[in-house]
Amino acid sequence: MKLFQDLRVPVIAAPMAGGINNPQMVAAVCEGGGIGSFGFAYSSPEKILQDLQSTKKLTRGPINANFFVFKPVAPPDQEQLAAVRQALSQLGLDEVAWPDLKPPYIPDLSAMLEPVWQERPAILSFHFGIPPQSVIEQAKSLGITIGLNITSVFEARQAIAAQADFLIVQGIEAGGHRGIFEPDGQDENLPMVKLLSQVLEMTSLPLVAAGGIMHGYDVAKVIDLGAQAAQMGTAFLTCHESTASLQHKEELLRAQRAVVETRSFSGRRAQGLDNEFIRRMHHQAVLSFPMQNTLTGPMRAWAQRAADAEYQSLWAGQNYQDCRSLSASQLLQILRLEMESAWQALSIKSH
Ligand SMILES: Cc1cc2nc3c(=O)[nH]c(=O)nc-3n(C[C@H](O)[C@H](O)[C@H](O)COP(=O)(O)O)c2cc1C
Repeated sequence: MKLFQDLRVPVIAAPMAGGINNPQMVAAVCEGGGIGSFGFAYSSPEKILQDLQSTKKLTRGPINANFFVFKPVAPPDQEQLAAVRQALSQLGLDEVAWPDLKPPYIPDLSAMLEPVWQERPAILSFHFGIPPQSVIEQAKSLGITIGLNITSVFEARQAIAAQADFLIVQGIEAGGHRGIFEPDGQDENLPMVKLLSQVLEMTSLPLVAAGGIMHGYDVAKVIDLGAQAAQMGTAFLTCHESTASLQHKEELLRAQRAVVETRSFSGRRAQGLDNEFIRRMHHQAVLSFPMQNTLTGPMRAWAQRAADAEYQSLWAGQNYQDCRSLSASQLLQILRLEMESAWQALSIKSH
């Protein structure tokens, strides 16, 4: 695909919802020869418009606007809600005002997409499923490339049938939310390389590999296997431009914590560094996504203000120990050098 072939560094800096991506970071990645992304899942239409417009003033490179496919959510069962509230109150965080949950519980995708239709980023991508067909058609009619995240061959088939232009193949190593379509669905939990080879056998669509990719050597390897690019989240969290919290960055660079999977923060499976909240909520009830996320939002914001690493989400992929503290443009330069030396070592023609 020309979009990927034109890149000096075949890397998408992953969309990371929750305000981690920002115009400086996205522009630095684009200017460095990769694709910069916004995780807009929880952003207001006004903020989305502002971010896209600010970034376009800084770069003409390819921008990826990413959203979640939220399933309609029924009002929470009152007994379950009471159980979750009780578990949260037992944490003893008196400074936190736990919020009320109000319908419709999920953001309005069509309102959030208005700025996308107006500003036309190069890519529109989705996590957690397939958006309405009208969205895919609208994107195509505006020349916007559609990327869909998949975690299995089963999901890849659905994404291909929905006319995706490319697939993001997310392995179990990935940091943040697992993009499985059905939150409680069966999951083979395939490692990225295994899933990539399975999906390569079934489609000629461009594939982007995601999960545990930290070095240019890893990028060279997935390209060699047949992917067109790598999507890297964790490696960009510790970039100077990233607005991940200071404690999040410190804990990634300190590399002392185990990586665990939890639903406690959001209601959906997500991978990150172990902390007190995850341990204390381990056997407790959780509300479905994104209601649990709404409920824990003020706690996470409070923990950031209080510089407390124990009550915020410290999302991280399984290879986070290789995080580096540097600017996004330095990271891209190093990735390129590492790719070249990997190819040289393998006597593979340079990309
Ligand atoms: C903090 C964080 C937030 C993420 N948020 C999103 C998101 O909003 N949308 C999305 O498609 N993927 C999201 N992801 C997953 C990435 O797209 C990607 O699959 C993952 O980062 C790859 O694994 P790695 O973290 O080991 O590089 C997120 C990952 C992290 C670490």
